[in-house]
Amino acid sequence: MMRKKLMIGAAAVAVVLGGIVAQVAAESPREDAMKALGKNMKVIKELISANGNAADAAAPAQKIAEIAAKIPDLFPQGSDTPDDAAKAEIWQNWDDFVAKAKSLQDEATMLASAAGGGDLATVGAQFEKVGGTCGACHKQYREKTN
Ligand code: HEC
Repeated sequence: MMRKKLMIGAAAVAVVLGGIVAQVAAESPREDAMKALGKNMKVIKELISANGNAADAAAPAQKIAEIAAKIPDLFPQGSDTPDDAAKAEIWQNWDDFVAKAKSLQDEATMLASAAGGGDLATVGAQFEKVGGTCGACHKQYREKTN
């Protein structure tokens, strides 16, 4: 019982701190995280185009899965600002948003295992699925910026 209460307290503190950090940083932590997703996707894409070593996709895929696990925490309640591209619908459909982050995490984890299998065609097919989960979330929750 005591333990559960303590954990809830710690989570509340983390949410508050997250909100403060998001407001102070010029470039928001979630934009940094999204950029890191893009960078790791690019590494894998180039590896596939260059007909490279499938196993080399494992590390960036793992990184994508790790970042995906943090997405919900990067969008704390009340962190919507007029000048970012995050739509208010995120907080109205929170469970769906979290589910979409989880799909990215799951597909990226599968991509890391596919890379371990060593077959570049399998990696390529799974890479498409990962990209699909980025698009599915952006389509619904990211403001068109151009
Ligand atoms: C669960 C939803 C979700 C998923 C999954 C997701 N994104 Fe995003 N992404 C967003 C939202 C929302 C924004 C707008 C954030 C903002 O402006 O604060 C964004 C913004 C971005 C940006 C622009 C960042 C900037 O500097 O403004 C890039 C690049 C990006 N995402 C890449 C990716 C890639 C690559 C993937 C897949 C590997 C991905 N995202 C998966 C929701 C998602």
